[in-house]
Amino acid sequence: MRHRPRRLRRTAAIRNLVRETRLHVSELIYPLFIVEGHQIKKEMPTLPGVYQLSIDQLAKEVQELQALNIEHVLLFGVLEADEKDAHGSAAYQPEGLVQRAIRAIKMQALDMNVITDVCLCEYTSHGHCGVLTDEQAIDNDASLEILAKIAVSHARAGADIIAPSDMMDGRIGHLRQALDASGYAEIAMMSYSVKYASNFYGPFREAAKCAPSSGDRKTYQMDYANGAESLKEAQLDIDEGADFLMVKPALSYLDIIYRVKEKTAMPLVAYHTSGEYAMLKMAIKEGILAEDAMMETIISIKRAGADRIITYLAKELARKLQT
Ligand code: PBG
Ligand code: ZN
Repeated sequence: MRHRPRRLRRTAAIRNLVRETRLHVSELIYPLFIVEGHQIKKEMPTLPGVYQLSIDQLAKEVQELQALNIEHVLLFGVLEADEKDAHGSAAYQPEGLVQRAIRAIKMQALDMNVITDVCLCEYTSHGHCGVLTDEQAIDNDASLEILAKIAVSHARAGADIIAPSDMMDGRIGHLRQALDASGYAEIAMMSYSVKYASNFYGPFREAAKCAPSSGDRKTYQMDYANGAESLKEAQLDIDEGADFLMVKPALSYLDIIYRVKEKTAMPLVAYHTSGEYAMLKMAIKEGILAEDAMMETIISIKRAGADRIITYLAKELARKLQT
């Protein structure tokens, strides 16, 4: 037989030689949930192995990440109900939770790459990613003003990269202008460009206490039935000055990752979301799937075209990669 593809699968060394996709630890971004309080390290019931941390825990956490060579974190602030208001004003206070967390991380490790999620849902009493009009509709353009204040305050606190996740129209251009005007022209933006209204954010909304109190996010996040629209959203963000594009979620959207990667020259990030993580973890815990399903999942996201991956699996994968 002339063609025998099995020749290249014969030994582990040959398989290593022809392997197309490899994961490197520097490609992983680890999300952190920050809460007020002291000595808090609280595991999330629906996200085993993922914790809410108070600021005094961050030095230790960062040391652990550095020991694993993880060099990128994505910060989320988790507020109590009494700290929230209709306009999310807690989000842009100079002494706000995320602002203090950024400084605490930088104090411990100046070279830790600090990416901050910029959105309103963790800070608004109604839990929407924008502010509301009197008729309870999203006020897109009023939201932009507040998002800009948040972005600038994160940059002022020392964030390296701003990651807007709100999905308001025109936010990337608006935030770029605001950052430039405030002296942060060199602070990059990692836009949640292609973000679907997905069921796979469920556990996150519990961990970040940011579920909308009424309605859903379908007037701003994308319809999961749409593919071509991802190219439109990606192009708008490129035109408005985004430095990275993102597709979110990841595993049910590998076609979208592939399309966006093929059509743009941008660094592409995929967000392996809380629901995707929870499903995998549960199946492994129950003995339904083997542990290697974690690596298979993340490799498949990379193989589809994602350059970088935000994942709650980062530590476990980093440990695997060290052996
Ligand atoms: C906030 C935000 C969400 C996620 C990241 N940023 C939730 C949402 O949009 O409802 C989801 C992350 C995950 O599920 O892991 N806008
Ligand atoms: Zn939001």
